Amino acid sequence: MEKYYITTAIAYTSGKPHIGNTYEIVLADAIARFKRQKGYDVYFQTGTDEHGEKIELKAKEKGVTPKEFVDEVAQDIKRIWNIMNTSYDKFVRTTDPIHERQVQKIFKKMYDKGDIYLGKYEGLYCTPCESFFTESQLVDGKCPDCGREVKKASEEAYFFKLSKYQDRLVEYYNTHPDFIKPESRKNEMINNFIKPGLQDLCISRTSFTWGIPVDFDPKHVVYVWLDALTNYITNIGYDVDNPSPEFKKLWPADLHLVGKDIIRFHTIYWPCFLMSLDIPLPKQVFGHPWLLFGNDKMSKSKGNIMYADDLVNYFGVDAVRYYVLHEIPYANDGTITYDTLIDKINSDLANILGNLVNRTISMANKYFDGKVINTKLTESLDKDLLDSIDSLEGKIEDRMDRLEIGAAIDEIFEVLRKSNKYIDDTTPWVLSKDENSKDRLKTVIYNLLEAIRVCSISLEPFLPSTAEEIKRQLNTSDISPKYNQENIYNTITPMPLFVRIDKDAKLKGIENKG
Ligand code: MSP
Repeated sequence: MEKYYITTAIAYTSGKPHIGNTYEIVLADAIARFKRQKGYDVYFQTGTDEHGEKIELKAKEKGVTPKEFVDEVAQDIKRIWNIMNTSYDKFVRTTDPIHERQVQKIFKKMYDKGDIYLGKYEGLYCTPCESFFTESQLVDGKCPDCGREVKKASEEAYFFKLSKYQDRLVEYYNTHPDFIKPESRKNEMINNFIKPGLQDLCISRTSFTWGIPVDFDPKHVVYVWLDALTNYITNIGYDVDNPSPEFKKLWPADLHLVGKDIIRFHTIYWPCFLMSLDIPLPKQVFGHPWLLFGNDKMSKSKGNIMYADDLVNYFGVDAVRYYVLHEIPYANDGTITYDTLIDKINSDLANILGNLVNRTISMANKYFDGKVINTKLTESLDKDLLDSIDSLEGKIEDRMDRLEIGAAIDEIFEVLRKSNKYIDDTTPWVLSKDENSKDRLKTVIYNLLEAIRVCSISLEPFLPSTAEEIKRQLNTSDISPKYNQENIYNTITPMPLFVRIDKDAKLKGIENKG
C-alpha cells in the first residue's frame, strides 16, 4: 500500500481555536479520509504549538505556570478536533519530551555543521507573531502579519544561514512545480522574499524562558518556528543519529496543509532547515485561504468569533463540516455568518440531499415494501443519470488531486440534483397507478437508490456520519463507487437527515444564548 503522510499546522495554545482554525483540521480530515478510501496507507498528524513569549505572558496573566496553561488549552483544542469527527492518527504537542530532545539535537547538528552561528540581533519584534522584522518590512510602521505594534529589541542570538540554501531552494521550486499550491502563493514567495535575497534567520531567544533550551548554551531558547516546524519529523521518529523505520517509511510528507499566513515558514524556512539536515523536502505545501466572518477577520476584540463547538450545538457536526468544506474556495477567502450557514443547510443539505433520500426511500417502502431489485426496464431518459453516477468517481478524484475540495462536493451535489430532476421527469407517482408500469417503476426507484448509494460513498470523506446514516437507511453493504446492476435493496424506515431550519427562530435562539 502506498503511504500518504498529511499534516496540519500545529495550533497555538494561546487560546481556544475559532472556526477558522478549525477549518484546517476538517479540511485535512476530508483529504485523509478520501485517501484512505482510495486505498492509501494514510498517516494524519495534527497537534499544538506550545512554546513562546506570548504563552509565557498569558500564563502569567492568569497566574498559572506556562505548562498548566498549555495543558488546559491543548486539551480544549483536542476536544474540538474530536467534536468535528476528525480522524487524525496522532495529536502531537511541542512540550512532549521526545520532541524537545530531538529539537535540541537538531539545533546542535546544524550548529556543528556550521549552519548556525552566534551573532547579535537588532530589530523590530512583534510579540504575538514571535517574529523580528526590519524597518522596510513593516506596513505603516506595524507588524506586516498581524498589524499590531512592534517593539525595538536587541539580543545576542544564534542565526541560521538561510542565505546558504537560497539557490538550492529556487532549484527545488523550479524542478517541483507542485511544491507550492496555489500557484499564486509561490509567486508571492519568489517576489517578496527570495528575489530580494534571503536574510539569515534569528533562531534563538534570550528575552524569555518558555521554550526549548539550547542544550550547549541554555540561556537561549530555540526560536518557536524551528521548534514548531520540526514537529513534522520529530514525532514520526526522526533522530539525527538514527532515524526510525517509521520515519523512513513516512518521510517526506506528502502534504503539509497550512493557512496562507504561514506559507512563508513552510516553503522557505522549513525546506532550508531540511536541507541543512540532509533530508528530503516535503512533496507539497498547500496554503489554504481563510475563513472570514462576513468581510472581517474573526477576532476577540471585534466580538465576532465563532467557535466550532457552539456551531455544532446549534447545527450538528456534518452541517458545519459541509459549510466550511464547501464554502471556502481553493484560493480565495471564504466567509461565514449564521445567516449564510442556515441558508446553505436549508438549500443543500435539507432540500437537495435530505429530501432526495427521504423521498426515494419512502417510495421504495410504499411501492415495494423496501424490496427493490433492478428490473432493467431502462429508458433513454435514464442515460444522463446513469452516466453521471458512473463518472462521479473520476471527477471527484480529479478535483481532490488538485485540492479543490468545494468543487469535489459540487460534483456530488450535481448528481443529487440530477436525481431530484429524474424524479420529476419519471413521475413515479403516475407510474405507480398503472399495474403495467410496476416494473418500470422498480427500475426508476432502483436507479435512484443507486444514485444515492454512490453519492453517499463519495460523501463519506466530507460528511462521515451522514454517509453512514444513508448507508444504514439503504441497508446495503455495497461500497463500490460505480452503478451496480445487481444490488438487492431492502430499505428501512427513513429518518430525516437534515431538518429545515426556521431561520428567524434559530437566529433568535442563538442571540438569547449569547
Ligand atoms: N502555530 C502556528 C503554526 C505552526 S506549524 C509548524 C500557527 N498557529 S495558529 O493557531 O495561529 O493557526 C493554525 C492554523 O490555522 C494556521 O494554518 C492558520 O493559517 C490557520 N488559520 C488561522 N485563522 C484562520 C482562519 N480565519 N481561516 C482559516 N484558517 C485560519 O500559525
